[in-house]
Amino acid sequence: MNMLSSVAPWDLVAEGYSEVTMKVFQGYADEALAMTELDNQSHVLDIACGPGTLALSAARKCRSVSAIDFSSAMVDILEDTIRHHSIDNIEIFCGDAQQLPYQDNSFDAAFSMFGLMFFPNRMQGYREIYRTLKPGGKTVISSWAPTTQSPVMMTVFGALKAMNPDMPEPQTDIESLENPELFKAELRQAGFNNVDVLAVTKGVQVDSVEEFWDKMVKGSAPIVMMKNKLTDEVWQQKNRIALNYLHDTIGDLPTTLLADAWFGVGTK
Ligand SMILES: C[S@@+](CC[C@H](N)C(=O)[O-])C[C@H]1O[C@@H](n2cnc3c(N)ncnc32)[C@H](O)[C@@H]1O
Repeated sequence: MNMLSSVAPWDLVAEGYSEVTMKVFQGYADEALAMTELDNQSHVLDIACGPGTLALSAARKCRSVSAIDFSSAMVDILEDTIRHHSIDNIEIFCGDAQQLPYQDNSFDAAFSMFGLMFFPNRMQGYREIYRTLKPGGKTVISSWAPTTQSPVMMTVFGALKAMNPDMPEPQTDIESLENPELFKAELRQAGFNNVDVLAVTKGVQVDSVEEFWDKMVKGSAPIVMMKNKLTDEVWQQKNRIALNYLHDTIGDLPTTLLADAWFGVGTK
């Protein structure tokens, strides 16, 4: 099983994720919201909401947002944010989103940004979205395109490989949502109409190598897990190798490294 299908890595990385990754992912959330026609009467579902990247934006334009995530650390951060900003139209639930605690036909739109892709039973995830959407409601589900297609992913992979030369080269997993044809087939199988999978490209601004790497380390669950297994001394050694690699490969700064996502869309 993919380790990112379990709670522990997300609890571990929640703080760094909310500090850095959330800002990087905001562009994808905004683009997903723009693909739906929402107004101040709409009820929205954000599945695997993390610290609220999409939920907080949706709450500004919609009547209500139901946000669910199984990481209590992520949910705690979102709860703090809504308390701090006195946001009263986001309802949060901590639990496994493969089973949704919502009534049938409840939502005008349902999103899962880089979340459902980790579910051990993706079909169950889609079916729950379908069940809880109103007839005519729309879903937008995002996943990553193959690593080899995204300069930012390849840059991070290169740094990790420099640290750990035994790491295998990235392979496209045709059984995962990296495969847009499978993505479409699964959405159709769950009952969705007007299915499509669209490529969405966003960039990560790199002003300095050190700042870029610091962001990647703080906000990435696999890197935090790797770091936690090493002594501080070994991590510092490996970190220097990664920084040297990045200085050698990124080129002139500032620059923007792009990352391709797939957005699977469908209506009920
Ligand atoms: C990459 S983060 C995305 C967070 C947010 N949607 C965003 O766009 O920033 C993945 C999130 O999926 C959540 N997650 C993964 N599997 C889940 C499951 N079975 N049920 C609920 N949440 C899950 C994790 O806890 C994590 O917050």
